[in-house]
This record gives sequence, structure tokens and C-alpha cells, in this order.
Amino acid sequence: MTRKQTVADAFGAAASTYDSSAQAQSRAADGVVDLVMGRTLPQNPCVLEVGCGTGLLTRKLLPKVGGDWLVTDLSPAMVKAAEATTSATNATFRVMDGEHPDVPTGLFDLVVSNLAAQWFGDLGRALNQLQACLSPGGVLVLSTLGRGSFKEWRAAHEQLGLSCGVPLYPIAEELAALLPACAQVTSEQVIIGHADGHEFVDSLKRIGAGTPNSGHVPLNPGALRKVLRAMGAPVAITYDILYAVVEAQ
Ligand SMILES: C[S@@+](CC[C@H](N)C(=O)[O-])C[C@H]1O[C@@H](n2cnc3c(N)ncnc32)[C@H](O)[C@@H]1O
Repeated sequence: MTRKQTVADAFGAAASTYDSSAQAQSRAADGVVDLVMGRTLPQNPCVLEVGCGTGLLTRKLLPKVGGDWLVTDLSPAMVKAAEATTSATNATFRVMDGEHPDVPTGLFDLVVSNLAAQWFGDLGRALNQLQACLSPGGVLVLSTLGRGSFKEWRAAHEQLGLSCGVPLYPIAEELAALLPACAQVTSEQVIIGHADGHEFVDSLKRIGAGTPNSGHVPLNPGALRKVLRAMGAPVAITYDILYAVVEAQ
């Protein structure tokens, strides 16, 4: 099975539990909404959403900007969940790999994505593909995870000399380097509290985000117990959210 299929299956299996544990995703979606609402969009914009999940961002943003939406995700179960929870007649839902958007180029006034791009295999190539979807003057607004995300989890592994399955997410400058010079990249630290490390790991499973970095060998149960103990209780987990706004040239 490819990593992409593993990621899609993990999110699909979590479609019914996602919303109850998606606090950081909800906060990042608010950040994306604020950035979009700070722009001037055409009347009835043509909008593409990539990595919609259960439709958290869709439900917050669609009523504000209107227009015609194509709402997509890699996971068929997530697309189904988003469609079931979004009461809009101006949205079409479809399974699509956001790294390979099979949509006409130059069509969309707005391309949005909330905390999906950290799952892309080749972020730079994917960002180019998404910009190619923009109409002249169109805008891409997305959030993704930055290097400081889960730093407490990483530190607990390092303290014990164990390898951590969290990918090396980009710092803001690295994300900016993948985008045209006109792009604005900002960051926000969102801290989510959990009773202990177990609850943190469970929360990742409940949103379907438990797939480790490619090639990571999962810890044996004893090593995992040590990491969870090293984290102490309660735990505060950092989500280092990077936001990018790119206007089509
Ligand atoms: C953390 S969830 C975020 C979902 C939603 N945007 C939100 O704000 O709650 C990540 C989503 O990205 C999707 N995803 C992962 N890789 C993707 C890809 N290559 N193309 C499209 N969606 C992808 C997953 O299936 C999952 O639904």
C-alpha cells in the first residue's frame, strides 16, 4: 500500500470522530477565514478547497464568500462527511489528490486549504500545481504545519534517544522559499492541552493523523510507555501553524 493510501485510509477511518478532537484545526481554519476575508474577492467567486476533511473550513468560509465551490479531499470517507455536514447548494464534492489537481488551470478565484498540505509528498511541486489553478488575480490561502509543531513530543523522544515519527516540517522561511516573492507567510502558535501523553496520542488517532513519517519504525510498547512517561502530565502540545497567501501573477 502506498503512503498516500495509508494516509487516506487513516483519515477516512476517523471521519466520525474527527470533529470532536480537531481544536487546533478549528483554530487554524479561523486563521484561514480571517486571511480570506481580508482580501477583495469577485462577486460569486469560483472556489477550490483542497483537503476538506469533514468540512470544518468549508462550513466556516463558504457562507461568508458564497460563489461556486469544488470541495475535495484524498479520502472518500472525508468527502462524504463534508458533503453530509455542509448544507449548501453551491458546492460540489469530489475525491481529489490536492498534489495533482485534475481541474482546469486558471479557473479558480480562490484556492483554500486548511492543515492538509503537511501530508503532501512534494510540497513545492504541489504549491506550484495549486497556483496554476488560480485565475488571473486569484488567490491561494492555506495553512500547514511548521517545524515547531509537536515539539514536546519530539523532545520526549530525543531525551530518550529514540527516533520520532513526526516529519521535519518547514520553518516559515523554507515555506516562503517555495512560493513567489510576493507571497505572505505568517505563523501562529496554537497550544492544545491534554490530560497526559496518552490523551494526546488518542486525539491524533481520533482525527486520523497518526500516520508517521515515511520509513519510521514504530516504537515498541515499552519504548512508547517511556516516551509517554517522559512527557509528564498534564501536557501542552504546540501546533506551529504556518499561513501562506499567494496572489496569482
Ligand atoms: C488534518 S485534516 C484537515 C481537514 C480540514 N481541512 C479541516 O480543516 O479540518 C487533513 C486532511 O487532508 C487530507 N489530505 C491528506 N493528503 C491529501 C492530499 N494529497 N490531497 C487532498 N487531501 C489530502 C486528509 O484526507 C484529511 O482529510
